[in-house]
Amino acid sequence: MVQQSAFIITIDGPSGAGKGTVSASLALRLGFALLDSGALYRLTGLAARLLACDFDDHAALGEVARTLDVEFRSTEHGVTIYLSGQDVSKAIRTEQAGMDASRVAAVPAVRDALLQRQRDFAEAPGLVADGRDMGSTVFPEAPLKVFLTASAEERANRRMKQLQLANAEQEYDYQQILSDIEARDKQDSERSSSPLAAAADAVHIDSSHMTIEEVLTKILDLYRTFGD
Ligand code: DC
Repeated sequence: MVQQSAFIITIDGPSGAGKGTVSASLALRLGFALLDSGALYRLTGLAARLLACDFDDHAALGEVARTLDVEFRSTEHGVTIYLSGQDVSKAIRTEQAGMDASRVAAVPAVRDALLQRQRDFAEAPGLVADGRDMGSTVFPEAPLKVFLTASAEERANRRMKQLQLANAEQEYDYQQILSDIEARDKQDSERSSSPLAAAADAVHIDSSHMTIEEVLTKILDLYRTFGD
């Protein structure tokens, strides 16, 4: 049940637009809870892999999502994510886990199973909900909805920098990263169940030429228009 006193800010958009960083910083600044809905799809994909589930068996995938045993624990270094008691914070961030997440996210039984779980994150004084369909489907009544985008090229640049930071020894292929991003955009936008789409009342922000701080300032300015 969504608590009435929770002010919900939804941040939707494609992979690599900066949603994760912006949402986490925004939640911290406002003292709001944070929903990283992508992590729930990544966890479902990972759990399905660990259970050697057939990815074409949609009922089985729905059951995996329904029975996920997850815990998000906040630490001073960010959020640690547990699946059945195991720390999977890194395991869910691999490219494979991203592609698996995108596959399971196209399955209606999975989306249905995760819907209430996502709504349960709402708590006073507020929630920042990061995803693809937060404003359109999960929290359609949210007073502040943002659709955060950036060009595919800029998102590939950012991803490449992120990967190089995490593993300086490895060589990365920009063209490959760009085509992975384009493939994921296509898969997320063209699926029939709750595709990546801006809610009609969302404010669009293109972060291609903006810093994270500039995006944050813009969203905080929008939030202030609702009064304290
Ligand atoms: O934001 P992310 O990269 O962690 O998301 C992983 C995948 O999950 C992404 O390909 C799209 C999907 N997803 C979704 O379909 N709906 C959401 N609300 C969040 C993520």
